[in-house]
Amino acid sequence: MTDTTERTALVDDLLARMTTKQKVGQLIQYFYFSLPEGAGEGIDPFISRQPQAVETALAEGSVGSLLFVTDPAETNRLQKLAIEGNEHGIPLLFGFDVIHGLRTIFPVPIALAASWDADTIERAQTVAAREARAVGIHWAFAPMVDIARDPRWGRIIEGAGEDPLLGSVVAGAQVRGFQGEELGASEHIVAGPKHFAGYGAALGGRDYDEVDLSDQEFWNTYLPPFKAAIDAGAGNIMSAYMDLNGVPASGNHWLLTEVLRDALGFEGFVVTDANAAKDLETHHFAADAADAAVRALNAGVDMEMGIFQPAFANLIEAIDDGRVDTARVDEAVRRILVVKEKLGLFEQPYVDEADARRVLADPAHRDEAQRAAERSAVLLRNEGGILPLDPDSLGSVAVIGPLATSQRDTLGPWVFDFDLGETVTIAEGIATRLAGKASVVVEQGVAEPKRTFPSMFEQFGDTSPSAPADFDADAALDRAVRAATDADVAIVVLGEQQDMIGENASRSDLSLPGDQQRLLEAVVATGTRVVLVLMNGRPLDIRWAAENVPGILDVWYPGTRGGSAVASLLFGDTAPAGKLPFTWPRTVGQVPIHHAITRSHAPQNQDKRYWNEESTPLFPFGHGLGYTSFEYAEVRVDAERVGLDGTVTVSVDVANTGDRDGVEVVQLYLHQRFGTSSRPLRQLAAFERVEIAAGQTETVAFRIGPDERRYWSAATRDWVLDATVFDVWVGGDANAQAHAEFTVG
Ligand code: NOJ
Repeated sequence: MTDTTERTALVDDLLARMTTKQKVGQLIQYFYFSLPEGAGEGIDPFISRQPQAVETALAEGSVGSLLFVTDPAETNRLQKLAIEGNEHGIPLLFGFDVIHGLRTIFPVPIALAASWDADTIERAQTVAAREARAVGIHWAFAPMVDIARDPRWGRIIEGAGEDPLLGSVVAGAQVRGFQGEELGASEHIVAGPKHFAGYGAALGGRDYDEVDLSDQEFWNTYLPPFKAAIDAGAGNIMSAYMDLNGVPASGNHWLLTEVLRDALGFEGFVVTDANAAKDLETHHFAADAADAAVRALNAGVDMEMGIFQPAFANLIEAIDDGRVDTARVDEAVRRILVVKEKLGLFEQPYVDEADARRVLADPAHRDEAQRAAERSAVLLRNEGGILPLDPDSLGSVAVIGPLATSQRDTLGPWVFDFDLGETVTIAEGIATRLAGKASVVVEQGVAEPKRTFPSMFEQFGDTSPSAPADFDADAALDRAVRAATDADVAIVVLGEQQDMIGENASRSDLSLPGDQQRLLEAVVATGTRVVLVLMNGRPLDIRWAAENVPGILDVWYPGTRGGSAVASLLFGDTAPAGKLPFTWPRTVGQVPIHHAITRSHAPQNQDKRYWNEESTPLFPFGHGLGYTSFEYAEVRVDAERVGLDGTVTVSVDVANTGDRDGVEVVQLYLHQRFGTSSRPLRQLAAFERVEIAAGQTETVAFRIGPDERRYWSAATRDWVLDATVFDVWVGGDANAQAHAEFTVG
């Protein structure tokens, strides 16, 4: 293995002078909880004692990093403690889950991915980085680049969905947004792609549970987004919680060294997921916490994210008795110190609190959030062109559903520093848009749906609203039905509360939780025109709605300005152009499901693999409508045959046949007819988001070279490029029809 760890004079000098205890301290990151007002009821006693324990460690100079501090006065205070706690003045690195914004909350990551727009994603994370850096945060535990093909897994919301190419584009854009031009760019922070690797394939969609992944899926599907993130310069990688093919990811030398360093060329530092080093004992892999620390470090972990009593504290003894090599410890310390140096923390470890307040309040950030929400929404159905609604021809509108008025749910999970007061709900957004034009009646209709088991975030005081104990369900439903009956149009906002999706939020079914299905059917039965607005981070079972509700707009959890964005989409100020980043199943019984399946025995029945229901999805991967229509002409390939290392250019004319300007995400799917392995019937190989004026035609061209055709084969256990024939389809989703072919070799 070649040592790619960067050396600098400053770090060499520090390493020569640091004690073993100080070195080990650099390898430990502690949670530091600044608990919100009112939290603490029933809180884990370890958590409530944590601040004192951490401050003692800071004063002793044995902490490298903290997480969960977002108040600039606090980051400054703790930074001072750390710097004064060691004679070398080594500053702390502050990390945080900056997933989709800090104060300005952007749409959730799966929504950003649905924009298929690298520019929008990069801009969103640029804003998030600016806000984070202003308060003293240096490092985001993001992007989550785990491929997810099983929507029972709650963390599908944090990633870019099922596809390795889309996942790679999104991963690169996020890293560039967080980090800027290079690590250390001003107003930027370190990106930490996670969870290395395969975490999204949890058995049964159950978070944290084991993953058994074939080598071909590992290399062809799950690794490419990590590779893209690393190629974009990511400074950190987080190791995953689960067993990967029988070996815990955070103690897996093959994974963290041979794959991550040698194959992917990663040069930054590796942190474990929270407590994942200690977990090596929980896995029945390590004998005890000391063994866990030794094995994690030797596998390739550089820093432990410790919740309490870090396993890595045992490394001092392990160094003394030779269970770990000092060179390996120095290498890990070096990687961490180099990042601190690059970020300029030795020169300026503190932040300006007044400046932080200004940055957090920047109105331009809110505008970016609205733009991103508008670009992420996916129009799933638009029967009879019910959308956009004409605001000038409406007398009254009913807005129905408990999520319509919930500020907290509008923001989505994985946010902690939000401002509810300025969060625009869907009901508010609609009311503001229609002010002076139509009357807006808002009805809850049903009680807020609730989890059976509480969310782990509840102990921090973060909850979605609940119905009062005396909530009268029949009366609420009656009021909603009456409001719908009296209205020209009913906008029903349904989905999952934000704590029903995310970490530790897996689900065994995909139905609309609580009484929402009943509410929807009752509103549709009034005969009033109905538009369903979905708030979700996973596909839900909306088979009934897909037949009975003419307009369905998926707005995900749209963020701080979500309501304004949704109103602008519903009333046609802007048009939806998002596309699904995952295959939308009909029912939970079909999952896992994705578009890049291979062909097998009895292909004529591939759509009838179940005797009771079609095995095709409800909506294909890449699906999404707009307010105009597009037509694809014949696909052209510039060469019928190319050599193995040759490139063909595939082009297609796309016409906007409607009377409104529009945006189409033109997608190219590839199929290899024969070769070393059998390959997917359709594999997304390229895409481009194009603006096409009404009545105009644009030519879109894609280059398909060896990189697009190469894959890892379980037959040769290596990368191959086959001499073969390729089918190409170009269109607006994974069922694209325009076809051509070319030969390679
Ligand atoms: C556990 C999660 O798996 C990880 O994604 C997150 O960054 C850490 N906790 C810190 O909150």
